[in-house]
Amino acid sequence: MSFQIQTEFAQPFMDPSLFSSVLQESKDAFCRVKEAYQTMTSPLGWFSLPEDYDKEEFDRIVKTAQAIRSRCDVFIVIGIGGSYLGARAAIEFVQGPFHNKIRSDGPEIYFAGTSVDGDYLQNIVSICQDRDVCVNVISKSGTTTEPAIAFRVFRTLLEEKYGKDGAKDRIFITTDREEKPGTLKELAVREGYETFTVPRNIGGRYSVLSAVGLLPIAVSGARIDLMMRGALRAMQDFSSDNTHTNLAIRYAALRNYFYRQGKKMELFASYTPALELLGEWLKQLFGESEGKEGKGIFPVSAIYSRDLHSLGQYVQQGERTLFETVLKVNHSKSSFMIPASADNVDGLAYLENKSMDFVNDNAMLGTAQAHLDGGVPTIVLSLDQNDEEHFGYLVYFFELSCAVSGMLLGVDPFDQPGVEAYKKNMFRLLGKPGYVK
Ligand code: PA5
Repeated sequence: MSFQIQTEFAQPFMDPSLFSSVLQESKDAFCRVKEAYQTMTSPLGWFSLPEDYDKEEFDRIVKTAQAIRSRCDVFIVIGIGGSYLGARAAIEFVQGPFHNKIRSDGPEIYFAGTSVDGDYLQNIVSICQDRDVCVNVISKSGTTTEPAIAFRVFRTLLEEKYGKDGAKDRIFITTDREEKPGTLKELAVREGYETFTVPRNIGGRYSVLSAVGLLPIAVSGARIDLMMRGALRAMQDFSSDNTHTNLAIRYAALRNYFYRQGKKMELFASYTPALELLGEWLKQLFGESEGKEGKGIFPVSAIYSRDLHSLGQYVQQGERTLFETVLKVNHSKSSFMIPASADNVDGLAYLENKSMDFVNDNAMLGTAQAHLDGGVPTIVLSLDQNDEEHFGYLVYFFELSCAVSGMLLGVDPFDQPGVEAYKKNMFRLLGKPGYVK
């Protein structure tokens, strides 16, 4: 397993003495994160989670996932934001975008409750016809509207299909442990559904390595023990405040250095389509953690070379307010080769018998150089493979970097007060009791 930060395509934009003072600030911010963990003044349960996770619940997750895998064709994960993005990112990271088609020994997995679009729900309902279905509802608060609507739809579907008792054995709830009136936990206790816990001291976007992410990930067949092992390794690698070895401190410093130079947007790009959902997870992690008090780096994501044919023009020549963070996977799993051909009508003889990794590496190098020439610095985060261990490692690296970066920026990286504003308006328009004037 390996993970590195390369700054070759960012150096020309960096003043060494200015950067070293931001690096020192980043080290101080890391110490504040550590102190907040020790004094329990912020929800930092994720900080030591790779070591002190609930082992009993972990075993129950593995067993439940095995049972779900053997008894259903379709597994529906209901949740939004931090209650779904991590699991979806992990499944695609390990198994790729076609995971539902290539998985031969487990259910197809669909995500619901991520929008309020009726056609989306109808499509999943149609997929469930004549197939065995299990559902995992995930909501820390247990009161979020989008998943609540989706759960009503699929609970009704399961009860019609299997009866109330049959449905009960196919519904799994991941939520807060406290049974407050009107919450999912209250419903779970009343109906006798099996429940898993979202730890109190872990916020939604930092929760993928808890039951929130682990149950759906295990149902996909991915090895969650290896994921936890990767996260533990990152926790050990990034435990000291040494600014040379702690790459989370360095990355947080790089981000804030560029932000202070007027680079207000960070484009997370990868040349591996399996990382597309990781990009979505990163947008939530950084956007929700840092975008407040009129501050914050705006996170965007892209898959290259696909998006070089859409966003590429802007990146090369648009407003010079961007920096890029490229997630580079060094070795694809298949080592796919470009075939030889008797004729050369497509003009590709120069690539015959070369690997796609060779093409991808050079696409990355050529693009980073072009973007550098165009005024966009690129930070490269490289990893060996997109497997379970690297996913766990990356999750811990980014969570820690985000916490340090938010502290450095001077915001609280663990709250999200702005998310409430749209809900009030929506509830008023929908006529929810208590919101209508
Ligand atoms: O990161 C967060 O806290 C949010 O994105 C939540 O995960 C999201 O709003 C869903 O909330 P809940 O899990 O309470 O349904």
